[in-house]
Amino acid sequence: MADVLVGIYGASGFGREVLPLVREQLKTTSAELVFVDDGDVPKVLNGYPVLRYDEFLESDAGEKKLVFAIANSAIREKLAAKCTKDGIRSLSVRADNTVILDEVDVGEGVILCHFTQLTSNIRIGKYFHANIYSYVAHDCVIGDYVTFAPSVRCNGNVVIEDHAYIGAGAVIKQGTPEKPLVIGKSAVVGMGAVVTKDVPPGVTVVGNPAKVFEPRKR
Ligand SMILES: CC(C)(COP(=O)(O)OP(=O)(O)OC[C@H]1O[C@@H](n2cnc3c(N)ncnc32)[C@H](O)[C@@H]1OP(=O)(O)O)[C@@H](O)C(=O)NCCC(=O)NCCS
Repeated sequence: MADVLVGIYGASGFGREVLPLVREQLKTTSAELVFVDDGDVPKVLNGYPVLRYDEFLESDAGEKKLVFAIANSAIREKLAAKCTKDGIRSLSVRADNTVILDEVDVGEGVILCHFTQLTSNIRIGKYFHANIYSYVAHDCVIGDYVTFAPSVRCNGNVVIEDHAYIGAGAVIKQGTPEKPLVIGKSAVVGMGAVVTKDVPPGVTVVGNPAKVFEPRKR
């Protein structure tokens, strides 16, 4: 029986990128690692067992924790709520070369991948994902279940509301203390966008300068 069993919830591409971070973080402990996934996935992935959630719950480990490596923030929230109800705590993950400066407050269950930088005076909510090479600069406020794809550049005095998704390589212009730049709840910023103005809740923007995304009629 494992003393501590840590499940990486989600055995997709991101989950397979996150497991090695967890392995490194827990290398001086006796924790055992598994993937947890209810989808149609092999029983072993990259040398680690894949358990269904009910199998994970039933395992007789002394303590169980989960890392929510699921990019879709709505699913992430749903699963986190279910696991909390089942008495399973989340584990935050922080790659060994993450840079975090002064007065940074980060919520539970976050994943900070390699080369993430959080500078000074930043507030970040729960279950935030920062994929590789992303940064958050001074005086930003990030909500719950926000997702950064790789290489997001979020400059100072920016507010990002809950469930927003920021695509790979996006650049967000700095706001000011009096008027932060605001990315609204559940907004999507497309890969490569250069965001120079507020983005309303629920809206997708793309391009440089970023504009509301209107897919062509086919
Ligand atoms: C903006 C986005 C959400 C739109 O997704 P979608 O609705 O599936 O869009 P499609 O791929 O069907 O593309 C529709 C059109 O928009 C264009 N387009 C898509 N994304 C674009 C972007 N980021 N910037 C500019 N144009 C874009 C496509 O070329 C296509 O143009 P066309 O109609 O002339 O052929 C998506 O493309 C995106 O940028 N997602 C983020 C991806 C990312 O960062 N992944 C990281 C994984 S870790």
